[in-house]
Amino acid sequence: MTEADRQTIGDGEDLCFINGAYRPLAEARISPLDRGFLFGDGVYEVIPVYSGRPFRLQAHLSRLRRSLDEARLPSPYSDAEWASLLTRIIDSHGGGDQSLYLQVTRGAPDLRDHAFPDGERPTVFVMSSPLRAPEARGRSVILVDDIRWRRCDIKTVSLLPNVLLRQQAIEAGADEAVLIRDGFITEGAASNLFVVEGGALVTPPKSPLLLPGITRDLVVELAEANGLECRQENISLARFRSADEVWLSSSTKEVIPVTSVDGQPVGDGRPGPVWWRMRELYDAFKADLADPGKREAISTS
Ligand code: PDD
Repeated sequence: MTEADRQTIGDGEDLCFINGAYRPLAEARISPLDRGFLFGDGVYEVIPVYSGRPFRLQAHLSRLRRSLDEARLPSPYSDAEWASLLTRIIDSHGGGDQSLYLQVTRGAPDLRDHAFPDGERPTVFVMSSPLRAPEARGRSVILVDDIRWRRCDIKTVSLLPNVLLRQQAIEAGADEAVLIRDGFITEGAASNLFVVEGGALVTPPKSPLLLPGITRDLVVELAEANGLECRQENISLARFRSADEVWLSSSTKEVIPVTSVDGQPVGDGRPGPVWWRMRELYDAFKADLADPGKREAISTS
């Protein structure tokens, strides 16, 4: 932040970026005609920040670009512009560990109409939230029908089905809903899924039925680089129920163990040995980010 910014915004303000300007979050405003508000017509990203550095930034920006393309939204910024904008938000929150939220919607035209507006400028919003290291405790899930549409590969803000599914899990006393479509597991309401069978990792292949998670990709990469077998295969309900271990992955939760499915223990009901090994690999990878000699190579891709 420059001295001029400090004077207009003030130290200690929760700075966000909204439509081309940096403002305290409490003062950020959008029009009620915004298509994100009226239609859920927009896309988003959640990017973890460790030691002041956005984690896997290039992968998040590539996925953002893909979501924008699939939603036929114009891309408001180049990758370099996004990077400098995000850096400014990170720095204004004092670096360290944070979670960045970024959203682009199809703007706020004067009239509500389902069809695309003509030449409307997209609304761009970025904020930072605290990021806490996940606890190494087992989580519980329930199995539910995947009621979502067939383009779950687009990271859209139209999240009503995901919201309902997660709430269903919470009201059943569980942490996450695991979604089933046509007898196969897709993902969690806000996470990807792994099982361990005989020491090998298995995760559903990428398809329009699930989000191509950045954490999922990293777990696959870490497994392959460290001699853990990892396969990308469809997982039937029966296979899921008899897995030795079950994990969830997401940018804010990293990789967390599931120890109960529909009230039944997974394995011996405790986080399994392969999860502990992955936890170690993941932590080592994150620690390298804090090392200036290593981080350039790993933080961007
Ligand atoms: N959600 N699947 C869904 C439906 C998700 O919403 C998420 C993440 C993931 C994991 O993707 P990644 O590893 O790239 O975070 C999979 C974010 C964290 C959210 O909506 O808050």
